[in-house]
Amino acid sequence: MYLFKKISGLRQFLESYRSKNRAIGFVPTMGALHKGHLSLIEQSLASTQCTVGSIFVNPTQFNEAADLEKYPRAPAQDLAMLYKAGCHAVFMPSPEEVYPQGLDTSVALDFGALSKPMEGKFRPGHFDGVAQVVKRLLDIVEPDKLFMGQKDYQQYLIVRHMAQALSLPTEVVVCPIVREKNGLAMSSRNERLSPEQREQAAALYQTLQQVEKWMGKHPPREVEQKALQALQQPGLEPEYFQLVDGQALQPVSDYESPTSIVACAAIWVGGVRLIDNMILK
Ligand code: PAF
Repeated sequence: MYLFKKISGLRQFLESYRSKNRAIGFVPTMGALHKGHLSLIEQSLASTQCTVGSIFVNPTQFNEAADLEKYPRAPAQDLAMLYKAGCHAVFMPSPEEVYPQGLDTSVALDFGALSKPMEGKFRPGHFDGVAQVVKRLLDIVEPDKLFMGQKDYQQYLIVRHMAQALSLPTEVVVCPIVREKNGLAMSSRNERLSPEQREQAAALYQTLQQVEKWMGKHPPREVEQKALQALQQPGLEPEYFQLVDGQALQPVSDYESPTSIVACAAIWVGGVRLIDNMILK
C-alpha cells in the first residue's frame, strides 16, 4: 500500500492504472475507521482494480468549531486497517494541499430541496462543505467508482446529484449500513460514547425496526410522532425523525404513491450526535 500526502505523487501512481484501462475505486473518509469504512473498501476491491482511500478531516463541513476539534483521529490505526484490508493507495493530504490559497474550490450548485431538510436544517452549510471536498477529491483522484455509505443517506443523494448535474465520469455506489451487535450503526463518532451510552444509543435502531411495523398501520406523521416519543429515553435527545421520499427527501403523505420511503433520524447521546436510517420501501 502506498501513502501519498501530495496530489502529484498520487496522480502519477494512478496514471499507471489509468493508462492500462484499469478501473479505479475511491473511498473518501475522515479517518477513525471502523468496519463500515472497511465494507466500502471491500466493495471497491471487488469491483475495481485499484482502490484508493482518503483520510482528511474536512474543516469546511463542520458547522461548529468544537465538533471539528472533538472529531476522533487515529491515523496510525487507520493506515494499519487499510493496509490489512488490501487497499492499494491512501491519500492523506494537508488542508493546504486540498484547499490551496487562490484556488476556488466552492461548488456552485443548488441542491434545492435535497439539502434543506434534516441534516441541512440542523447543520447549516454542512452539505456545501461536503460537496466542496468530495468534488475536490474527485478532481484529484478521477475515480471510475465512488463508494459511499447508506448511513449518510442524504449525503449520498447530494453527492449523486452533484455527479449527475456536473456530468462527472464517476459512478456513485451506495453500500449498506454496517451495525454493531446491538444494532447501533457503525460511526466514527461512536468512539466518543461510553459503553453505557452505546447501549442507550441502540434504541435508535430498535425504533427504526419498530417503525417498519407501524408503517401502513398509522399515517406517516403519526409514525414520526410515535418514533420521537419512543426515543424520549434517559440519556437520549431525539433531534428529528422523518419518513421521506427516498429520492426527493420530501415528507411522504402516504405509503402507496412514493416508489421508495426512507426513515431518517438524528439523536444526541450525551454530547454526541448520531444519525441512522432505514429504507422502508
Ligand atoms: O462521510 C464522510 O466521512 C465525509 O462526509 C466525506 C464523504 C468523507 C467527506 O468529507
